[in-house]
Amino acid sequence: MSTKTASTPDDTKDVSGANWWRQAAVYQIYPRSFSDSNGDGLGDIKGITAKVPYLESLGIDAVWLSPFYPSALADGGYDVDNYRDVDPKLGSLADFDEMTAALHAAGIKLIVDIVPNHSSDRHDWFREALASPKGSAARDRYIFREGKGKDGGLPPSDWESLFGGPAWERIIEPDGAPGQWYMHLFAKEQPDFNWDNPEVREDFLKTLRFWSDRGVDGFRIDVAHALTKDLSEPLPAKAELAAEDETTDGTHPFWDRDEVHEIYAEWRALFNEYNPPRTAVAEAWVHADRRGRYASPEGLGQAFNFDLLQAAFDAEQFREIIARNLAESQVTGASSTWVFSNHDVVRHATRYGLPKGPGRNGPAQAWLKSAGTEPALNRELGERRARAATLMMLALPGSAYLYQGEELGLHEVVEIPATDRQDPSFFRNPGVEIGRDGCRVPLPWTSEGIAFGFGDAAAHLPQPEWFSAYSVARQEMQPGSTLALYREALRLRGNLQTDELLKWLGGPHDSVLHFIRPNGWQSITNFGTGPVELAAGTVVLSSSPLTDGKLPADTTAWII
Ligand code: NOJ
Repeated sequence: MSTKTASTPDDTKDVSGANWWRQAAVYQIYPRSFSDSNGDGLGDIKGITAKVPYLESLGIDAVWLSPFYPSALADGGYDVDNYRDVDPKLGSLADFDEMTAALHAAGIKLIVDIVPNHSSDRHDWFREALASPKGSAARDRYIFREGKGKDGGLPPSDWESLFGGPAWERIIEPDGAPGQWYMHLFAKEQPDFNWDNPEVREDFLKTLRFWSDRGVDGFRIDVAHALTKDLSEPLPAKAELAAEDETTDGTHPFWDRDEVHEIYAEWRALFNEYNPPRTAVAEAWVHADRRGRYASPEGLGQAFNFDLLQAAFDAEQFREIIARNLAESQVTGASSTWVFSNHDVVRHATRYGLPKGPGRNGPAQAWLKSAGTEPALNRELGERRARAATLMMLALPGSAYLYQGEELGLHEVVEIPATDRQDPSFFRNPGVEIGRDGCRVPLPWTSEGIAFGFGDAAAHLPQPEWFSAYSVARQEMQPGSTLALYREALRLRGNLQTDELLKWLGGPHDSVLHFIRPNGWQSITNFGTGPVELAAGTVVLSSSPLTDGKLPADTTAWII
């Protein structure tokens, strides 16, 4: 049995210099729900600055900030009015600079979200397009088409928006008559850009430079796989199109076309003008075989792998996903990315507290639809498994993306009245989809007060009473809390932030997932039903208490 003690985090850590992103722990902030400094119920930039000490105490390497740009919030800020400004409701550019400086002073990098597939319908360019005639240069920045049928009253194709309903919206022409249709893969307030238009390309280069010059360290690229489109007539019918992540040959009219990488090569050249080079991570829901193109060093450099996020809490699934993605990272040269929760999915504490069921999100969707009554959620089990999964993830080579509130073990909030809901997927699919508001409810910082310390006014999405028990203040008093676990795991993770891969211990069908890093650090997770013997060594951290020296079910331990 080894008697080594945990080495100091900085022994092997390589998160400085140009490679800082390769092994970074990145914490996603959904700015309107993080901290409200001025009591208007909406989180803001100054609120984030005030919480930099908290972020520092958490031990993360970088913050990824979801959109903070001026927006009517038709899609939670992913409908951008102006890419080079801060929403006045959230602050000013000066506030942004102050926040960046505070993060940097704390040794935390900053990644911002870029939304290049679509703007909002309030963007100056879209307003200009509506006011300009058919065929004008202003219309050419977006995707306008004549309708079909009598008087062009039918959409150009039967394609559907991802939020439900048609992917085309008819406009009223400047002369007052119904006219052309524009394409929107998401909400109708999010018209898609025409990336064949050089002005669009130039403008995004300007935006990337604008934020890079302000000291932003990297970018998260929204819907990175949709920018380039082949809309030559006749447009194929919906029934002829492969699903988003099932297309494999780059010929789909709008998902994952090969030409999109020409754009990212240009962006890469811009990123590399900076020192250190700016980083980027693609949000690309593409077939696993094609993900590497986005992650290539000549392109964005990194791409999200959402495989763990879509898996059940299951040793075999986890093992296969980890092995495949690590092998892929060897081919692309990028580091792997791992993520369990973000602002688009049901929080993992909740997913893992529901019985296994059909489809990747089947149980969670059924639970949401029944307003949390069926199937029954086992809160404690979900939190326990989420802690085990996260502790395992933090021992993997690659960068770990964490979503605000998961460090508190927060569950999805299901009890949001329809009148308070904000997500377009709820409104465009009445009775079918409940939407993503449940993971976007403002954080509880304290156990009491009007908004649990989020601000001095009721939060823009209502917080449930049970948030009280999950607050930061409460968990800071509890030695075994989820927050305490994240802090300790992130501190110790400094020992593991190298590109060196892992070696599996144990068999491929075991219900225990066990691996060792080259420095001797072992992670062992029990997905089975009863306690198991631990490997020899010193347990430096476990996601739940050990029982009689054994590793209980739904628990991860780190051993050196
Ligand atoms: C992906 C973002 O994560 C999601 O929140 C948004 O609704 C869509 N892209 C559209 O921008």
